[in-house]
Amino acid sequence: MFFTFAPMQLLDGKIVSQSVKDTLKIKVDELKQSGKRLPFLAAVIVGNNGASETYVASKAKNCDEIGFLNKTIRLDESITEAALIKVVEELNNDNKIDGILVQLPLPQHINNERIINAIDPSKDVDGFHPMSTGKLIQGSPAFIPATPYGVMLMLEHYKIETKGKHAVVIGRSNIVGRPMSILLSQQNPYGNCTVTLCHSHTKNLKEICLQADIIVAALGIPGFLTADMVKENAVVIDVGITRVADETKKSGFSIKGDVDFEHVAPKSSYITPVPGGVGLMTIAALLKNTFNAYEARETNMK
Ligand code: GUN
Repeated sequence: MFFTFAPMQLLDGKIVSQSVKDTLKIKVDELKQSGKRLPFLAAVIVGNNGASETYVASKAKNCDEIGFLNKTIRLDESITEAALIKVVEELNNDNKIDGILVQLPLPQHINNERIINAIDPSKDVDGFHPMSTGKLIQGSPAFIPATPYGVMLMLEHYKIETKGKHAVVIGRSNIVGRPMSILLSQQNPYGNCTVTLCHSHTKNLKEICLQADIIVAALGIPGFLTADMVKENAVVIDVGITRVADETKKSGFSIKGDVDFEHVAPKSSYITPVPGGVGLMTIAALLKNTFNAYEARETNMK
């Protein structure tokens, strides 16, 4: 007897993010031609976290590519919370700036929540401010945190049917898992899933994952999702981007996802690679949020 399975398709973050960026670049070129002000993203980075440096450099490079103005403010690890809030407030009050992001993690002595709350909600392109979270939960137009937004853009690009499907999200962070679970359950074309949000206290995780039509792995443990946890033909989204020591690489590390790609891919209908998957979408979604912030501010200034 022969079993036939649909071939697995890669969800290619390179292709989808490029298409998002191409669309934005056309809009920026139009602004340039008509002599208008250009979108401006400000990133704040505190201390010397290697991964944060990489993300922020990549955000700046992508802004340059599509023609957004951008600047990175580098602050010493020892900065006080009050001084950091002052920097955020200056950016809030700067009319040229449309989007502000403060790269996380911050040093231990700084309270993340107080910093995020200090950002003007109209410039909150990370979508971390409680105002953005509240709007997202209500289903109102909102800045959506870039990683889950990027995943939604990917589902949309590949026209992946989500209505009535069982989506399992592993990880409940404010940045990824929790907003992801909200987006997938929302009443919109790429929502309407039944969502199970799993975390470190979930019992029977394997059994729950085996019921999933769509799995989003966002827990930050390399290779966590193994083939025995995945149903045949599931859609598998890997949000993990952990640096793992690798002597064969010049940098001394390689990037690993939360999914055991080699063994899970043959069972999947669609799967994201790492690198080259969700990571690229995060930046594309941030750029989209920044353009939306720009447009809203331009409309309000008129
Ligand atoms: N650290 C890890 N991911 C993110 C992100 O999307 N935004 C910010 N500001 N910090 C992060």
